[in-house]
Amino acid sequence: MLWTRRHFIKSASALTLTPALPSFVGPVIARDGFLEITAGPSKQKLFREDGPSSDLWTYNGNAPGPEIRAKRGERVRVRFINNLEEPSSIHWHGIRIANAMDGVAGLTQEAVPTGGSFGYDFIAPDAGTYWYHAHNRSWNQVARGLYGALIVEDENSSFDPDHDLTLVIDDWRLTDDGTLETASLGNLMEWAHGGRLGNWLTVNGQPSPEHMLRKGEPYRLRLINACNARVLELDPNRFGGLITAYDGQSLGRAEQLNYSPFLLGPAQRVDLLIAPDDDFAIEEISGDQTYAFATFKVTGKATERPRPRLPTPNAIPEPDLANARRVALDMTGGAMGNLQNITFQGKKLEGDDFRRTGQVWAFNGVANMAETPLFSAAKDETVILEVENNTSWLHAIHVHGHHFRVIARSGAELDDGQPWRDTFLIGAGQKVEIAFVTDNKGKWLFHCHMLEHAAAGMTTWFEVT
Ligand code: C2O
Ligand code: CU
Repeated sequence: MLWTRRHFIKSASALTLTPALPSFVGPVIARDGFLEITAGPSKQKLFREDGPSSDLWTYNGNAPGPEIRAKRGERVRVRFINNLEEPSSIHWHGIRIANAMDGVAGLTQEAVPTGGSFGYDFIAPDAGTYWYHAHNRSWNQVARGLYGALIVEDENSSFDPDHDLTLVIDDWRLTDDGTLETASLGNLMEWAHGGRLGNWLTVNGQPSPEHMLRKGEPYRLRLINACNARVLELDPNRFGGLITAYDGQSLGRAEQLNYSPFLLGPAQRVDLLIAPDDDFAIEEISGDQTYAFATFKVTGKATERPRPRLPTPNAIPEPDLANARRVALDMTGGAMGNLQNITFQGKKLEGDDFRRTGQVWAFNGVANMAETPLFSAAKDETVILEVENNTSWLHAIHVHGHHFRVIARSGAELDDGQPWRDTFLIGAGQKVEIAFVTDNKGKWLFHCHMLEHAAAGMTTWFEVT
């Protein structure tokens, strides 16, 4: 995968030194107990400290927005205030939430208009690494900076706050002068290809931040891919990172990966455990040269430390594969793909329709939200989705309101133990089966988390009644 950073890499010498503290920015808590999260325009230096500021859209004036922390099972109340020039909503990605609080504009709520507000009030049932982001015109709003981390703490785990680091990773597209490029937002050519890829990586809004860690002490690193479309390629074995959770769900143990690269798709998360002996960096390894996007200075003398207690796994209902309902999902469209037989709003697209409607991808031949759901299930059924990617592109498919297990994957030897996930990657030509119990009533979105693909047709929904 091409990492087009050549232009920037030479001048990217300004490192930001941050102490080993979480990226917590205190949200404002109102009298009624709601955290106030205000979306609006703000300025931020993305390129380097002495460089120019970009015009972003952010939550509470910074990208990422304030890190929200709650305890497992705790009630979370957020008042979202919209000071953007367009309607918006907030989605709590990966939280198995009550449907009315899922934040999907046009499905679970009306988009909040400019000047309006909305009270989100929900229980966070699972401990783990989650995130929140705009869910109206997300391809535009997330690319401009509307996202933040949502961390649900586990009562059993033993990481103190300064050993529990959140790394929200984003790829921005910067112009030659180092400010956010916006002219290409909505470019249909990119929507039909791999989505809008940036050329500049930041962690918690900073280019190549450096953290100070203490030798031999156990740290948890929570990596969140907030990119619109980029699949990050990592190798935790290069720096001794062990995997303890995927997409927020704790494995209950620390696992060493036996393959490389590890792919972290848009919206996916991974928690790593590391007890560093030496300085190290986390690198993106897809380019001809690797790119260290976060570096860690390790100081002090190693002392004998107790093994940290990892979070206990969350209670998620196990699919009953023998009594499952099977649902087929055929993914088509895109550049170098089949554009025959794509229907949008009841009409078969042809000729100039693709450009005019901006629809170029389809699930089961339908672009973007059919009247009827992909499937309708009763509460507590097991559903196996048989997904076939008949496009020429990699995709990152997200199920709202549920976590699932990937139970089959064509062409991959890889036995990853079928961990719970909320977003899965599927390569060109690949078949993947996922299974989950429909234990959460409501209308749930199902879409590619490459946000341009979602906007250009790869979005549908299902219903649990
Ligand atoms: Cu993280 Cu429908 O999205
Ligand atoms: Cu996609």
